[in-house]
Amino acid sequence: MLELKNVHKTFNIGTINEKKALQGIDLHLDPGDFVTIIGGNGAGKSTMLNMIAGVYPIDAGKIILNGDDVSRKPEHARARHLGRVFQDPMRGTAAGMEIEENLALAYRRGKSRGLSWGITKKEKELYHEKLKILELGLEDRMTSKVGLLSGGQRQALTLLMAALQKPELLLLDEHTAALDPKTAKKVLELTEKIVDENNLTAMMVTHNMKDAIRMGNRLIMMNDGKIIYDVRGEEKKNLHVSELLQKFEEASGDEFANDRMLLS
Ligand SMILES: Nc1ncnc2c1ncn2[C@@H]1O[C@H](COP(=O)(O)OP(=O)(O)O)[C@@H](O)[C@H]1O
Ligand SMILES: [Mg+2]
Repeated sequence: MLELKNVHKTFNIGTINEKKALQGIDLHLDPGDFVTIIGGNGAGKSTMLNMIAGVYPIDAGKIILNGDDVSRKPEHARARHLGRVFQDPMRGTAAGMEIEENLALAYRRGKSRGLSWGITKKEKELYHEKLKILELGLEDRMTSKVGLLSGGQRQALTLLMAALQKPELLLLDEHTAALDPKTAKKVLELTEKIVDENNLTAMMVTHNMKDAIRMGNRLIMMNDGKIIYDVRGEEKKNLHVSELLQKFEEASGDEFANDRMLLS
């Protein structure tokens, strides 16, 4: 499904701001894997997802998506294989457009037609049905402007849009971090539901260790541009937050004190 081979990325090479963000990432995902990713600030989590999506070129190594070497392919060429949701609820949807128009854009992604043909009755039925899954009542507000929605509603919609074309890989980068705890919980439940119902392969960065343990079938810890811990199945389910903290401290020589991971 996804294969990262010895992926390296250094930002600002040769300058005083040089930063080795990824230092030899090796990772193999099987179809249906749902991987949670944790690690301190600056560990390279977002960079890893950005490299998979082709936001920046990699310096060395290989990225293979569904058997296809995409290492040198630009972002737009990879986009139709991927769904992405970011931390910022404003980023995944167009505020000035209606809910159904946003969905139509997601639905037609990669097709040449855009919105020029209008939204058909059949499409509206599909969007209505999909929006119902969210249980937010948005199916009755399909012509409302997205800018009127709350952050949580927008993230839920972004998630739906990201999954609409059944991407080969869903990339979630702290997508509930900007939401209040109750809304975050709801969006996480939706995440599990959408991943499950569509049999998606997913990578989810979170700073919440409990969520990282509870969700998905595999957990990865990153530190200083490397994967320092990779655990799956029963072993993962049986983990405790204290063990994760210990692993982190062993690997990094740092404590998690004051880090927001401890607070949530
Ligand atoms: N576009 C960029 N330009 C320069 N440095 C970057 C860029 N993106 C990330 N970095 C640096 O790379 C390191 C890893 O960042 P990031 O992947 O965002 O960490 P995380 O998501 O784990 O908090 C950090 O030191 C960060 O400052
Ligand atoms: Mg990040």
